[in-house]
Amino acid sequence: MAPLSPSVRFAGGERHCANPSVSLLAKPSSSSLSPTKSLIFCIFVVISCVSSAASAAFGFLLFSPSSSRVLHHRFPSPSNSREPLARPLAKLPRPVVVVVSFDGFRFGYHLKAPSPNIRRLIANGTEAEDGLIPVFPSLTFPNHYSMATGLFPPYHGIINNIFADPYSGEWFTTKNHDPKWWLGEPLWLTVARQGYNAATYFWAGSEVKKDSWICPPKFCPKYNSSIPFEERVDAVLGYFDLPTDEIPVLIMLYFEDPDSQGHVYGPDHPEITKAVVRVDQIVGRLVRGLEERGIFDDVTIILLGDHGMAGTCDEKYVFLEELSPWIEIGPDWVMSADSLLTIRPPSGISWEEVVMKVNKGLSSGNVGNGDKLTVFLKEDLPEQFQYAGSDRIPPIVGVVEEGYTVKYKREKRYECGGSHGYDNFLLSMRSFFVAHGPRFPQGQKIPSFQNVEIYNLVTTILNLKGAPNNGSVSFPNSVLLQDA
Ligand SMILES: *[C@@H]1O[C@H](CO)[C@@H](O)[C@H](O)[C@H]1NC(C)=O
Ligand SMILES: *[C@@H]1O[C@H](CO)[C@@H](O)[C@H](O)[C@H]1NC(C)=O
Ligand SMILES: *[C@@H]1O[C@H](CO)[C@@H](O)[C@H](O)[C@H]1NC(C)=O
Repeated sequence: MAPLSPSVRFAGGERHCANPSVSLLAKPSSSSLSPTKSLIFCIFVVISCVSSAASAAFGFLLFSPSSSRVLHHRFPSPSNSREPLARPLAKLPRPVVVVVSFDGFRFGYHLKAPSPNIRRLIANGTEAEDGLIPVFPSLTFPNHYSMATGLFPPYHGIINNIFADPYSGEWFTTKNHDPKWWLGEPLWLTVARQGYNAATYFWAGSEVKKDSWICPPKFCPKYNSSIPFEERVDAVLGYFDLPTDEIPVLIMLYFEDPDSQGHVYGPDHPEITKAVVRVDQIVGRLVRGLEERGIFDDVTIILLGDHGMAGTCDEKYVFLEELSPWIEIGPDWVMSADSLLTIRPPSGISWEEVVMKVNKGLSSGNVGNGDKLTVFLKEDLPEQFQYAGSDRIPPIVGVVEEGYTVKYKREKRYECGGSHGYDNFLLSMRSFFVAHGPRFPQGQKIPSFQNVEIYNLVTTILNLKGAPNNGSVSFPNSVLLQDA
């Protein structure tokens, strides 16, 4: 898909340098791995956990200190019958969820351009006030498959867009649909297992045939980035014209924009504004089609994205060859670079020693931008990264600061555009979450949450039994109205 195509990723990059002064979101001033930030993060997690637990237990919601707006009171106790319940379905016999992903839709993009359709869903639905938090690495395939399975990448197996199996040496690429790579139970399989139709229009992993999911041609077209966006929406709308019991209860729909523009131009370019206008028109087309069929209020629409985007201009490079006075890294040790460095040294070479020597070189002051990269044994990564529990993850992982790019060798050509894959808790890596439907309170603002929660949210709305996953059991009830 788009992020992997070198022509999309790098074409024409130099001409369009993002202007940092019009940066959309405040850029964190210190390293994302600083103890202060980790501490703040931990406090946030504790607050979130306490808040969810308390709301479940006591029937009201506590707020994280950063949330300035007042939320609805939810979780009515049985005695309080005046709390709002979900709106009953008017026309459809059962709930239907349409999940729409806009690749690389950085949180806040909808504020860059008039977006009446997205705003309408926000006003009459629920929005994650500070965006949707991706999983690490903040890349397209790991994140789309985390949203589909509720699993962190080590447990669903898609630990990068491209990676090698450590035992066979075989490489996974985004075109590989062999089920051996794709672990876990994605939403479309959960739906199919329980006897309903599901439809996927280009979601990562959806073409993989697994158990009851056979990727039926009429509900699972093969990926083709040239299919116009309008055609995708119209195909999805067409599913609602099927006999009632054939209408898919789950529809997952993917668009490559605005990631394509983000890579070429960076997040602050007028081309992004144009792409956002187009995204909004696509949302409008979907909403209109549902309205024409009289089912807009029955259908749950969830808009989200897989990750954000950070500008990469000003020659923000780290070249591994500059480490040669400390350690000669073989080119074949490097499993991935750019925004996520992963290293698998050949057998016989001590991983600890590689980490020690690389970090010594990086902190020496003699490697360009060396202070922007830190390498870890994967087990020593901060726990919030959840990036250790799979043999597919190489033993050494380098985390580079926002906007920086790791290359093996110095290249003559400088690129200037946008990238992602960085620390998933950076604001710039967040995407958005907007949901509209019978079980979402009007005008509700919820705190940011991580996208592994999406799986339980969707299975709860659909009244299906979900597979074990890394989402929290309490999350759906903390944001949904009680079933009517
Ligand atoms: C919001 O929802 C209400 C009640 O369903 C409806 O009357 C109103 O038209 C909706 N507003 C928008 C902007 O869609
Ligand atoms: C992809 O879609 C385009 C536009 O509809 C079409 O012309 C092309 O033949 C398709 N490619 C494949 C491989 O199906
Ligand atoms: C994530 O879920 C998988 C499957 O249930 C489980 O094996 C794994 O331990 C979980 N990991 C975390 C960090 O919760």
